[in-house]
Amino acid sequence: MSSQDTLKKAAAKAAIELTLSRVCKSSIIGIGTGTTANFFIDLLADCHHNFLGTVASSKISEDRLRTNGIKVLDPNDVSELGVYVDGADEINSDLELIKGGGGALTWEKIISSMAREFLCIADDSKRVKSLGKFPLPIEVIPIARNKVARELIRLGANPRWRREFVTDNGNHIIDAHGLWPIESPSALEAEINQISGVVTNGIFANNSPDIVLIASPNQITTHIKRDNTSKLLL
Ligand code: 5RP
Repeated sequence: MSSQDTLKKAAAKAAIELTLSRVCKSSIIGIGTGTTANFFIDLLADCHHNFLGTVASSKISEDRLRTNGIKVLDPNDVSELGVYVDGADEINSDLELIKGGGGALTWEKIISSMAREFLCIADDSKRVKSLGKFPLPIEVIPIARNKVARELIRLGANPRWRREFVTDNGNHIIDAHGLWPIESPSALEAEINQISGVVTNGIFANNSPDIVLIASPNQITTHIKRDNTSKLLL
């Protein structure tokens, strides 16, 4: 296993402990997408008697959960999730994220916003001072791809179509390069989402995680969102 994978697994293990301290037998857990989320899914298999089921943020995570013997529910049949656990591509010090490297950003945004707590897990390579070095993924309706790309150029981006990739919604992904440093993630998130033809973009600033667990070689550090300590039982 690479050293980065070892750290991802360590973050996932810490997230299992935190998640189990927050759920009961009737709880439903939201599950992210990506290699870090995969470690979480595999570890969750051993504790599936501690909660009722899961809601997945992609078809790929849904398959992995089922293969691990974990129940997967339709989000439409669920009113609230206890916790949502997912990785990230970039995390700044305000716990704002870029996500969507795996192309699952839209379901990730929906499912994370259904959760009482959003727990993000990552290795320490994902920490950044300013968001935007990682190209910002944007899910677009296929017929609007070039029109959205032109509007992104006006915002200063260098948009590239992620060819050969179709989202779980049947849409395309544009990766917006050249946006670094993103000075106001929440404003840019809202501005790009206003472009007609955009389904959503991968900035998670208006619904950022409540807790971020970062694994580095010697330790796991816990970061808690400044304005919501009342919700937390840490
Ligand atoms: C998928 C995501 C992932 O959480 C993100 O890309 C991080 O992936 P990994 O855990 O493989 O590094 O947003 O859409």
